[in-house]
Amino acid sequence: MINVREISKDTYWIGANDRRLNLFENIHPIPEGVSYNSYVILDEKTVLLDTVDWSVARQFLDNLEYVLDGRDLDYMIINHMEPDHAATMDEVILRYPDVQVITTDKAFMLMNQYGHEMDYDEIIIVEEGDSMDFGEHTLSFVEIPMVHWPEAMVSFDASTGVLFSADAFGSWGALNGKLFTDEVNYDRDWIDTARRYYTNIVGKYGAHVVKTLEKALTLDIKVLAPLHGLVWRDPEDIGYILDKYTKWATYAPEEEGILIVYSSMYGNTESAVDRFASDLVQAGIKNVQVYDASVTDVSYLVSESFKFSHIVVASVTYNLNIYPAINEYLNHIEMLNLQNRTFAVIDNGSWAPVAGEKVRDRIKAFKNTKLIDEEFTMASRYQDANKYDYNALLEALIEDFNKE
Ligand code: FEO
Repeated sequence: MINVREISKDTYWIGANDRRLNLFENIHPIPEGVSYNSYVILDEKTVLLDTVDWSVARQFLDNLEYVLDGRDLDYMIINHMEPDHAATMDEVILRYPDVQVITTDKAFMLMNQYGHEMDYDEIIIVEEGDSMDFGEHTLSFVEIPMVHWPEAMVSFDASTGVLFSADAFGSWGALNGKLFTDEVNYDRDWIDTARRYYTNIVGKYGAHVVKTLEKALTLDIKVLAPLHGLVWRDPEDIGYILDKYTKWATYAPEEEGILIVYSSMYGNTESAVDRFASDLVQAGIKNVQVYDASVTDVSYLVSESFKFSHIVVASVTYNLNIYPAINEYLNHIEMLNLQNRTFAVIDNGSWAPVAGEKVRDRIKAFKNTKLIDEEFTMASRYQDANKYDYNALLEALIEDFNKE
């Protein structure tokens, strides 16, 4: 069934939802589903902005045919060449053989690498600052390398103020009948998923996102139209997401609070961590969240790590090393360049506790990171002899938190 919505004058969303995909990029769980957004401008010329993942191609192609209403497709702009957006471009060319593809030089290279065989002289290559006139609508092109691939660009329609923003400002989550952020309670129902999407997909490239934001702030944006998730048209909502992106891109904590990520084999480390969390709350720090790394997908731990100002890592020793789930967590936050955080470490080991030292060594290698000096190591479980070290770490963390 056709599912199309107008997002601005002459401009239509023609995307689709996928609720069957378990793992985005075959790594990140998306129980919320995902939308693949595609847009069409109907002017003197007809213009398609990006396609969709192959999984929803049928819905997209039906929508495209409907919105064109018998007209031919003149142009197809590929803002982002990743297959979740470009996989269907060959099918579009088969159905509209006169369509001209507009994209960047790097995207052309990727097209051919991914098997969408195109000749260089068949397509229109654009670069930063170029624009094209389609009638009443003129699109200008702005390169946004590494948001999230090197070839990415955004297209801005000055006549409507629509910024077709590629991966920027998007989110996982099927749309569930809504299309605009003013149709949902974003801060309640969407921000956690949006953060998890951003941090795991683009988190590593904060410096590039900052440059994208600088460019975006020079434009008179009235609508933000990303390739995933809801469309932004309310000025307050646009300000809200720009503020979130500024924090995430600069690795500034979104909230003052303490995240505790632990591993525990027989419940003893868990017990100590639960008491530690309780003592923090009783000391007046209400924003405390505790996760077991063994049962929490690392994408959620990454997202929470970008949110909180302080992080406690508690690991048992396993095969004379850091517990694998904690090691995986550290790998991800290091790979994603997380910084500007204060860490504290708790560890446990029954005969040769080494996890604490190894976790501390990993954290010391992170950029712009503070590590609380005090150490608290348990032998199998918390015992009275641990009281001094436990209290010292707790008090040092509380003192640091209250200094912020
Ligand atoms: Fe949704 Fe970078 O693609």
